[in-house]
Amino acid sequence: MQAWQVPKFGLENLCKAEIEQPKAGPLEVLVKLQAASINPRDYQIICGQFTENVDFPLVPLSDGAGVVVAVGSQVSQLAVGDRVTPLFFPNWIDGEAHGGERSISGGLESAGVLREFGVYREHAVGKIADHLSFTEAACLPCAGLTAYSALVPIANIQAGDSVLIQGTGGVAIAALQFAKALGATVIILSSSNAKLARAKQLGADHGINYIDNPNWGAEVFKLAGHGVDLVLEIGGTDTMENSLAAIRNGGHVAIIGYVAGADMGISVFPLIIKCANLHGIATGNRETYSAMMAFIEHHTIRPEISSSYAFDDARNALEEFALGTHFGKLVIDF
Ligand SMILES: NC(=O)c1ccc[n+]([C@@H]2O[C@H](COP(=O)([O-])OP(=O)(O)OC[C@H]3O[C@@H](n4cnc5c(N)ncnc54)[C@H](OP(=O)(O)O)[C@@H]3O)[C@@H](O)[C@H]2O)c1
Repeated sequence: MQAWQVPKFGLENLCKAEIEQPKAGPLEVLVKLQAASINPRDYQIICGQFTENVDFPLVPLSDGAGVVVAVGSQVSQLAVGDRVTPLFFPNWIDGEAHGGERSISGGLESAGVLREFGVYREHAVGKIADHLSFTEAACLPCAGLTAYSALVPIANIQAGDSVLIQGTGGVAIAALQFAKALGATVIILSSSNAKLARAKQLGADHGINYIDNPNWGAEVFKLAGHGVDLVLEIGGTDTMENSLAAIRNGGHVAIIGYVAGADMGISVFPLIIKCANLHGIATGNRETYSAMMAFIEHHTIRPEISSSYAFDDARNALEEFALGTHFGKLVIDF
């Protein structure tokens, strides 16, 4: 079968190879992969910016979707023909991860999805809602689940609450779609007025250009009346101070990304004064994934895809991703 592999760090080294097709063991399913989506982590892993601990050659990309084409003799929950996505953390089933449940993730410690077939234990894949295409489903295991984890299990967002979303990438646009389905008011940030206009078409109530308005925290606080209930913190260093200005007393900040720096040299005083709740998010577990998929099915939500590339053009897809021009997700359609 064909697979894309990284034999050493560097996007220029990403190459297609003919490798042996895996076979499903008794507790496993064989999945014919049909689509993948790109997350910043995938690009960073390939380029050697995420970790030095990579077993080469690596099949990259954590997020994909496909169809079960064979099942092991002891598989009980899945059948040939089921449409599934591999989970980001195949061993994190529910609750907190205390015992190494997050030690293996797709596209790093285990093979990623940029290959024709993959073998997975049955608990390591989740079923796809019927209305979703494979490319849409491939947007969900990391970006979608992270957005859902912040909104529902962490902040318990309800109709009438307000949410600030930073940027218009994969996590942000999933969060916009989920927050609107929950009945929340959404304020969204972007460097691009064209992307803000597009976010409004998807239901965003207010848009702020963070380049034109570097002190957006105070404006968000006012727009929400007395501060937002939740900030999805995508930026990091350059955004945290504004995020703390934007939340209400007792509000939540879901710490997700580091696109604007990973170090946070912030004062403790706004945290104390506002009794703020800070939560680190690491995508989510299988239980939350299943709840997200049921929610997506109930609201007939379709992930927003801005570009799609063929399997053979995977390197071009990663090059476009690095430019940051995408809105929502960038996918590879096998
Ligand atoms: N913790 C987790 O479990 C988890 C899961 C998934 C992703 N992440 C992390 O979350 C971040 C976002 O992931 P993604 O998949 O959504 O990435 P993405 O699709 O590449 O989107 C990145 C977005 O960041 C926005 N941005 C850049 N600088 C900004 C700033 N100073 N203020 C506000 N927004 C800014 C950009 O918005 P505009 O182009 O509109 O300006 C862009 O849309 C990344 O750091 C990723 O590694 C973490």
